[in-house]
Amino acid sequence: MKFSISAVKKPLQTKTDVLVVFVPEGRGVSGLADADALDDLIAQLAVDGDFKAKPGSTLLLHRPAAVAARRLLLVGLASKPEMRDWKKALQFAAGVLKSLPVAQAHLLCVNGLDTLAELTPTVFSDVFYRYDTTRTVDEKEQPRLDAVQICAVGAEAGLTHAKAALQQSESVAIGVRLARELANLPANYCTPVYLGDMAKKLAKFHNLSCKVLGRPELEKLGMGSFLAVAQGSVQPPRFIVLEYHGAGKKDAPHVLVGKGVTFDTGGISLKPGAEMDEMKFDMCGAASVLGAFEAIARIKPKLNVVGLIAATENMPDGGAVKPGDVVTSMSGQTIEILNTDAEGRLILCDALTYAARYKPQSVVDIATLTGACVIALGKVNSGLFTEDDALANALLEAGRAALDPCWRLPLEADYADALKSNFADVANIGGRPAGAITAACFLWRFAKDYRWAHLDIAGTAWNSGANKGATGRPVPLLVHYLLSQVK
Ligand code: BES
Ligand code: MN
Ligand code: ZN
Repeated sequence: MKFSISAVKKPLQTKTDVLVVFVPEGRGVSGLADADALDDLIAQLAVDGDFKAKPGSTLLLHRPAAVAARRLLLVGLASKPEMRDWKKALQFAAGVLKSLPVAQAHLLCVNGLDTLAELTPTVFSDVFYRYDTTRTVDEKEQPRLDAVQICAVGAEAGLTHAKAALQQSESVAIGVRLARELANLPANYCTPVYLGDMAKKLAKFHNLSCKVLGRPELEKLGMGSFLAVAQGSVQPPRFIVLEYHGAGKKDAPHVLVGKGVTFDTGGISLKPGAEMDEMKFDMCGAASVLGAFEAIARIKPKLNVVGLIAATENMPDGGAVKPGDVVTSMSGQTIEILNTDAEGRLILCDALTYAARYKPQSVVDIATLTGACVIALGKVNSGLFTEDDALANALLEAGRAALDPCWRLPLEADYADALKSNFADVANIGGRPAGAITAACFLWRFAKDYRWAHLDIAGTAWNSGANKGATGRPVPLLVHYLLSQVK
């Protein structure tokens, strides 16, 4: 789908398949040139009760006299719309357009050009996304919309700004789509090797550097904790190192670390059967790192970014790690694995140790880490854990700006007492209370050498039920965060 913005003097005269007009509650569209006929129509529709300009209402009209377009789609909007109101209105608009046999659409509003530019690509791409890689029959007709143009009325001055916002949003949309697609792929398609190959492809396409390590290299590095998780699977593990160079060589990078468990059975501490299929989504952290790289490589900010992905299955075969086994992590700390289902932290701790070699400005890990985080925050906010207030604020603000929010939970030494082990330096579980926090405390032990934050995306990375599928979160948050770090 192509998105563009152009200045239009008489937007209601635009010849197009469908003109979408956003109508703010109680304010009509009199701010537009030659809008009298349309304003009259909107007033009459309100009197007749067919369309009231309010959030959630839409009305499609075929060839009304007030406009030159073949169709007019009216979309109600809050009277003083905030970003999230705009997002809802755009979602409604895209939902209607998806079901129409139209190839082009023009979007028109009295105010809010920048917001429209910022949101249209991400929202449209989200609504129009369909998973069909492993389907052979089409149930629904393919939507035809391929060109969306935003009309800027009398706003030539702000056009450059809006165009930049549009381009950035398009890049984020492509990153989100990549993350969703990878995560939606079944685990027999999306294996650790597959993720490694995808990273190489991405790197080749965008001219990034990429290294993919296998078992022998991981052994040499001493990643005993990561390897312990991988040892129960016939699928070989992969450790992916991606580097984007947009700033000088001496500029310390920002590091993103993704949990890439391509399927989490729980291992010997086997999970119950219900909804276990959803554990193919346990690589959403990894997918979000690849998605963020896709976006960053397109936006090309003056920044250095490193992506680290620990990819493995968590399976229970005869060679699998057992409860009570003690392993030695790359940091040298020994870990008693009391529950093999707490595997995310076991692979991330070695990736966090590896990250120190970059002397990074910041490290953010992204993981579908705990069911407890889903209970705490649901599907609205990702869980944010960090000791560093400035880093916390940057991530919170990025989440707000990207409409991809996170919420800070405590990270305090007192919680770490739960991780005491009688047989190793640390245990990999801390019991049921504050499960998301004790998991973060475990990671914290391995992230002492740099500014670090942990995002638990167990609740936000995918939807269950009828709309089962990956969301692509927190790619928008990560991209906003990285862009906010450009000096
Ligand atoms: N991948 C899961 C976390 C998860 C569970 C995410 C359900 C989304 C929905 C993780 O590897 C896991 O199994 N965590 C355990 C930890 C426990 C054994 C301490 C959990 O949350 O139950
Ligand atoms: Mn698990
Ligand atoms: Zn897991």
